[in-house]
Amino acid sequence: MHRITLIPGDGIGPEVTASAREIVTAAGAAVEWEVAEAGMRAGEKTGRPLAESVIESIRKNKLALKGPTQTPFGDPYPVYVGDRVYPSVAIGLRKELGFYAAVRPIKNYPGVKSRYENVDFIIFRENSEDLYMGIERMVDADTAEAIKRITRGASERIARFAFEYLRKLGRKRLTVVHKANVLKMTDGLFLKVAQDVARDYPDMELDSRVVDALCMELVIKPESFDGLLLQNLYGDIVSDLGAGLIGGLGVAPGANVGVDCAMFEAVHGSAPDIAGKDLANPMSLILSAMMLLRYIGESSAADRIDRALSAVLSEKKHVTRDLGGTAGTREMTQAIVAQLN
Ligand code: NAI
Repeated sequence: MHRITLIPGDGIGPEVTASAREIVTAAGAAVEWEVAEAGMRAGEKTGRPLAESVIESIRKNKLALKGPTQTPFGDPYPVYVGDRVYPSVAIGLRKELGFYAAVRPIKNYPGVKSRYENVDFIIFRENSEDLYMGIERMVDADTAEAIKRITRGASERIARFAFEYLRKLGRKRLTVVHKANVLKMTDGLFLKVAQDVARDYPDMELDSRVVDALCMELVIKPESFDGLLLQNLYGDIVSDLGAGLIGGLGVAPGANVGVDCAMFEAVHGSAPDIAGKDLANPMSLILSAMMLLRYIGESSAADRIDRALSAVLSEKKHVTRDLGGTAGTREMTQAIVAQLN
């Protein structure tokens, strides 16, 4: 039995996590849940948006399924963990738990409107360094600079992670994305390390693309890719491009993986405009739960959910409004559960 920390989160979070939980249980997966509250609601109740106990729960269970957490707009929103302070719960969790890899599958689903067909690739984004660390300074009143730091260690760790992940899925091709023609040292190092690591995976193929050319190729023939390996900032941008290829952020799942633990979450936010109205599409969190199941070796339960979800999406009778239907979160969940029974 796998014990998983479940963070319901804010806004539509409790609705979509309840849906995913019910579907995972109906699929017969050997999991049990440990609910841990984090986010704005938890902050209002206890004064702590991200309590140490939540981090401890994930460290202990090594696995988490997370609903979106809300960051209030406007005033600064300091999230304290011990004497460390973060701008949001999501960033606090990422840093405290050392999630160095962000994984985002980009896959078409039947019945989900998209300009493309047969898209099915995985984005591996290095999550611990690069310009994204925000090391910036004003040189003088009219000049600002940022530091891009790339290390062999972090580059090797994400390259190995991507090869292993793809190999487990029986996939053969990884594309490393860079701008080494201009950034010869930083991107040159990232590219060189990926090529070095590739020698340990002779059964797989590594090719490369310059990031701008990749973006064009992605909108022309996205079905031609298997896996993309990117640094942090390129990964951030190309991830949203990827979501756009398959119907938007509302249908994209994601995982954050560290040395000891992994956290799976929907890519969308807490959608305060539709919270508590039974309008939220639970698909992104269900897909995130399926990733979690595959990660822990419960692949047959994940495959069953995949088939049930695909059947409901194709039929289009019990899908939420954003998918062109009239169903609520509950009705769509029940339809998927019915397919599983
Ligand atoms: P959002 O993704 O919450 O909402 C954008 C639009 O998409 C809204 O119109 C919303 O109703 C719709 N939408 C989102 N998810 C949906 C779903 N499952 N079903 C149907 N419609 C859906 O983005 P927004 O408004 O920028 O952010 C709201 C809050 O969420 C903010 O406080 C933000 O910080 C937080 N957020 C949290 C994330 C996390 O915890 N990982 C990620 C992104 C945002």
